[in-house]
Amino acid sequence: MRPVRSERHGIGYGCRGPIVAAMLAMLAVGFAGACLPAAARGQAAKAAQAAPDAAIRPWVRYPPVPARLSPQAELGRRLFFDTALSASGQMSCASCHDPARAYGPPDGRAVQPGGKDRLQSGMRAVPSLRYLDDTPLFSLHAFIPGSEDAEYEGPSGGFDQDGAAASRQQQAAGPLLDPSEMANASPAAVVAAVREGAYAQQFAQVFGADVFRHPRQAFDDVGAALRAFQAEDPSFHPYTSKFDAVMSGHARFTPQELRGYALFNDPSKGNCAACHIDVPGPGGRPAAFTDYAYEALGVPRNPQIPANRNPHYYDMGLCGPKRRDLAKQTQYCGMFKTPTLRNVAMRHVFFHNGYFHTLDAMMHFYVERDTDPRKWYPVVRGKVQKFDDLPPRYRANVDRSDAPMNRKPGDKPALDAREIADMIAFLKTLDDGYSDQAGGARSPGQHHRGSD
Ligand code: HEC
Ligand code: HEC
Repeated sequence: MRPVRSERHGIGYGCRGPIVAAMLAMLAVGFAGACLPAAARGQAAKAAQAAPDAAIRPWVRYPPVPARLSPQAELGRRLFFDTALSASGQMSCASCHDPARAYGPPDGRAVQPGGKDRLQSGMRAVPSLRYLDDTPLFSLHAFIPGSEDAEYEGPSGGFDQDGAAASRQQQAAGPLLDPSEMANASPAAVVAAVREGAYAQQFAQVFGADVFRHPRQAFDDVGAALRAFQAEDPSFHPYTSKFDAVMSGHARFTPQELRGYALFNDPSKGNCAACHIDVPGPGGRPAAFTDYAYEALGVPRNPQIPANRNPHYYDMGLCGPKRRDLAKQTQYCGMFKTPTLRNVAMRHVFFHNGYFHTLDAMMHFYVERDTDPRKWYPVVRGKVQKFDDLPPRYRANVDRSDAPMNRKPGDKPALDAREIADMIAFLKTLDDGYSDQAGGARSPGQHHRGSD
């Protein structure tokens, strides 16, 4: 039935199996030798005993912290926090992307209010803006290598949960002009707000003295500055989680976190790492906790989204209606981009429609969606309406082959309550703020928001 292969067990960069086994053994002593050939691993292990970070640091390459931001990025910072860039005069990018919450939603509302009067509602939950830097270009036929039955070919990449924006520069036009977000009437209205604002001169210095005479170009420049701020400012990619500290040899998982980490990687238990990749990427990029690929998970319909009051309206991700170009490719209906799990414990809304508000409920959904569907979907005339947030003809697109979503009614869920608690303890190690330096140790007395 499925046009793309989605048996994603074990994908990664060709070295997952050995890593996890090696890590589980080594993490107990505070060292990870990810993906190194055996001989090098032996040497690294010796070096690690002497100086743990010397052995690891060359492996994972954290982005350098720039001494200062470029003038474009400094301008982007001002734009990002400027409420004058909204029709209501009350809303900035930061209203929905709260810097105190990893640039994710400020509260537990499934969708955020916006628009001219701030009474309109968006259609989707607000994603975190952290760790988007390595997002690949959108492609329908991306190939992610793996073992023969684990490789993935299918849609991947792009910005927004349907990949419709090709870059962060282009993406910025979305919220600035969306009538339910910042609701500016036109690109020219945005440029006029900049021209009349406190940093008009700074804008002209960066983009040219005559910039305001070409509003279309100036509007693109607004996007370029916002992109530069997100790409350069370390607050968008701090890598200060306990996970990073553990992987750099500066901290140890608690026994509970370690159990959660093993379940996260175990293909027959959580299998989370098949899609939320937890090993370093090409060139030693720190683990992204996403493969940027698309999947339909069959999340229940959320009555808290006003648009859903219309029974004929469905947000189907890749095939629209928000994104228009793939409307005819109905094999993609219901698919949304796999998000990073970094800072996920700071959120109070999960999945594209914000249906879940706690990690515990969300985890139970993953493992009981198929074993106990009545728990999640409405029952009409004795029949469970499984995958009720998709029109019936597209419900076959939902992933039923990847663990933990490959069970049948009455089967034992892949994780029990205790294992879910272990998993959540592990997920909390992905929150930034454990250390004050990428992959660093926690300094004495430092405030710590994760669990241990
Ligand atoms: C009213 C709330 C709201 C405001 C204001 C807002 N956003 Fe967003 N943002 C969202 C939502 C919701 C999404 C997800 C959209 C989707 O998936 O279609 C999003 C997605 C994004 C993404 C893509 C993230 C990803 O995972 O690919 C970026 C980048 C972004 N916003 C940046 C900005 C910038 C820059 C501004 C200010 C110009 C801004 N946002 C203003 C709600 C908002
Ligand atoms: C087959 C790929 C796949 C597997 C396996 C998988 N996920 Fe996901 N995950 C996704 C996709 C795709 C989404 C976004 C779905 C949506 O919004 O409709 C997602 C969303 C999430 C979210 C919501 C994050 C947010 O910002 O809203 C969390 C948390 C999460 N997954 C955790 C896990 C855990 C824990 C496991 C293992 C038990 C797991 N996932 C297994 C693909 C997967």
